Amino acid sequence: MLLFTLLLEVIWILPANGGQHWTYEGPHGQDHWPASYPECGSNAQSPINIQTDSVTFDPELLVLQPHGYEQPGTEPLDLHNNGHTVQLSLPPTLYLEGLPRKYVAAQLHLHWGQRGSPWGSEHQINGEATAAELHIVHYDSESYDSLSEAAQRPQGLAVLGILIEVGETKNPAYEHILSHLHEIRHKDQKTSVPPFNVRELLPPLLAQFFRYNGSLTTPPCYQSVLWTVFSRRAQISMGQLEKLQETLFSTEEEPSKLLVQNYRAPQPLNQRAVFASFIQVGSLYTTGRRDWETGKVWSSPQHEPLRHRLLLGHHRCLPLAY
Ligand SMILES: *[C@@H]1O[C@H](CO)[C@@H](O)[C@H](O)[C@H]1NC(C)=O
Ligand SMILES: [Zn+2]
Repeated sequence: MLLFTLLLEVIWILPANGGQHWTYEGPHGQDHWPASYPECGSNAQSPINIQTDSVTFDPELLVLQPHGYEQPGTEPLDLHNNGHTVQLSLPPTLYLEGLPRKYVAAQLHLHWGQRGSPWGSEHQINGEATAAELHIVHYDSESYDSLSEAAQRPQGLAVLGILIEVGETKNPAYEHILSHLHEIRHKDQKTSVPPFNVRELLPPLLAQFFRYNGSLTTPPCYQSVLWTVFSRRAQISMGQLEKLQETLFSTEEEPSKLLVQNYRAPQPLNQRAVFASFIQVGSLYTTGRRDWETGKVWSSPQHEPLRHRLLLGHHRCLPLAY
């Protein structure tokens, strides 16, 4: 058993080589992942399409509090092109409060599409993808000593998913990453970036989110992730998106292959529940609108009478519409 665990860890830590080779498209593409990585074909995979009329409001969900995000130390952070994504290492001084245990940060990375494509996120909300998605990966440091150990255990990881859309202006926080991409154009190249305020990569409002049990979205697809997908989006400029789509290569040398379309298709929900931290009353009532603006999370005693009224007043009511 110990040997088996060690073996799994070796597979997890080693880069994709020695037969452990996967891509998003083609003969080793996502449809073929389960053949080499059985868990990729299992029944609680990520990403998912979040249908907001099927989510369950959970008034017990706590608003996540990221700690240490504003100042991630004084040492430079490693930025790495691993051939599948661009990944920034994070120190364990960054951690999350508001989950069943303390989860410390390990890394963040991005998923995106290709030039001219408005789709590149992994998660979808009501069937709609966005231009890109940020994942901030944390592990349960109370139960496990390392990311690789936690990555194979139920709820060993907590990943934040931030949908990214194109807005009018350049997002200076994302520039701390994007301005260094040209230094790591090829697979396995690394550079270091000065520490910056990681909190600013997130949407300003964190109170509205979805929570579900899922998996890593890349092989070996371990079903170890407690997911938090924020309802609000972060925005970057079109120029920034194009830099993400056009700078990196997935190969070490010529012929170079652009690192694009590194997102997995939504996976079947199967028997899983998706919980929401909020009630979106939608456009029916201006009060609901105000909640949308302030992100006020309804607690059940306040909410129940309103929901009741809505149900009585409208034969078809979507209390959780996005
Ligand atoms: C995740 O799975 C665990 C174990 O089955 C369960 O206790 C927990 O409520 C689930 N959490 C969510 C968000 O579905
Ligand atoms: Zn990811």
